[in-house]
Amino acid sequence: MGNEESTPIDESTPTQTLSSRTLDGLAEYLKSGKASRVVVMTGAGISTSAGIPDFRSPETGLYANLARLNLPYAEAVFDIGYFKENPEPFYSLASEIYPGKFRPTITHSFIRLLHDKGLLLKLFTQNIDCLEREAGVPDDKIIEAHGSFARQSCIECKAAYPEDDIKIHIAAKTIPRCYECQGLVKPEIVFFGEQLPAAFLESRMVPMSSDLCIVMGTSLTVQPFASLPGATLAYTPRLLINKERVGDLGTGTDDVLLLEDCDSGVRKLAEACGWLEELEKLWAETARPGQGEAQSKNLGVAKSKDEALEDEIETLTRQVDETLNLSKWHEEKVRSEKLPGMPSGGATESPTVPKPQPRSHEDEKSTLSHVFMSQSTQGTEPASTTKEGGNSKANE
Ligand code: OAD
Repeated sequence: MGNEESTPIDESTPTQTLSSRTLDGLAEYLKSGKASRVVVMTGAGISTSAGIPDFRSPETGLYANLARLNLPYAEAVFDIGYFKENPEPFYSLASEIYPGKFRPTITHSFIRLLHDKGLLLKLFTQNIDCLEREAGVPDDKIIEAHGSFARQSCIECKAAYPEDDIKIHIAAKTIPRCYECQGLVKPEIVFFGEQLPAAFLESRMVPMSSDLCIVMGTSLTVQPFASLPGATLAYTPRLLINKERVGDLGTGTDDVLLLEDCDSGVRKLAEACGWLEELEKLWAETARPGQGEAQSKNLGVAKSKDEALEDEIETLTRQVDETLNLSKWHEEKVRSEKLPGMPSGGATESPTVPKPQPRSHEDEKSTLSHVFMSQSTQGTEPASTTKEGGNSKANE
């Protein structure tokens, strides 16, 4: 799932900024006061221990569990072209992921702690669960790259839609319509095929001025977010806390990898910095009655070999079904109308999504759409896109 094709740095290569490419080296750097402009980049993996599934984990991820929605391909649930025709699957899912019933994880509180210590320059999050706000990270520090459930509007006339009313629809799994023009109403989550928020576009060079970059809980498979870690300067230390290696993390002279659970990773880092007690206290403050029951739901029970094999067969069957469904949907779509921006490629590509573009400073503005790399292209394209992703690291 990760983009780990990029070759990790040779262990003998000396560091440039840290005393060592280890957690202790990083903690020493943080404690010394040399890091005061920390950028944090997060994805769904920081919320899984809150009970919210991530997207691409093979068995527990959201995309592996959407069969009930009868989608032509899993990501269609967040595809604007598909939504315009079939808003039901999204609204069926929305009630499950709507913010309010989940408690921030200790990883969210760690980001808050960085803010409290005056170290947080910006948090870039792909998450739509609003848990970083709930953990107390102030709005002006958060860039919600893929939007959020915080606002909703008509996709046609853009009129704002009342929060109380959408809550009623989401709870009832019904489709809200605009009071002005009867257009479809959608939470301001960025769907595939939509433009990213202006705040993201304006801030995407912020990593260049950071002195530490922390990437957590993301597969870095969606552009342009996936290019952000590459926008740091060459010798800026980068820390990845994730279950797997992703993007080009691990190729820099001062990259530190903690390939493990985010919550345990941030605890280790906090401990190494002498902040653990403070962190646990901050996290304890996020507990609310009735919240967090889902906390243990997603932690996963060790599976037997047979169960794992069954899961694998199920996953493969699902992927074949999805490909067939997609081909069918694609064919019907081509017959009925020509899709704007549809790639000429084969049936295994997501129909409304253009191929990933290598990032370049010249055409940045025109190509900044939410580009998805489909499962079928993963493993062949994401790493090169990330590497070529026009970044300061690569260019230096
Ligand atoms: P993904 O599901 O693609 O990736 C989650 C990453 O977190 C994977 O690398 C997991 O191995 C890792 N992970 C999961 N749980 C973890 C844990 N407890 N500790 C450490 N690592 C963990 O999610 P995103 O990268 O966030 O967009 O996905 C990016 C975008 O794709 C989303 O914003 C969403 C999706 O389509 C939209 O829908 C608009």
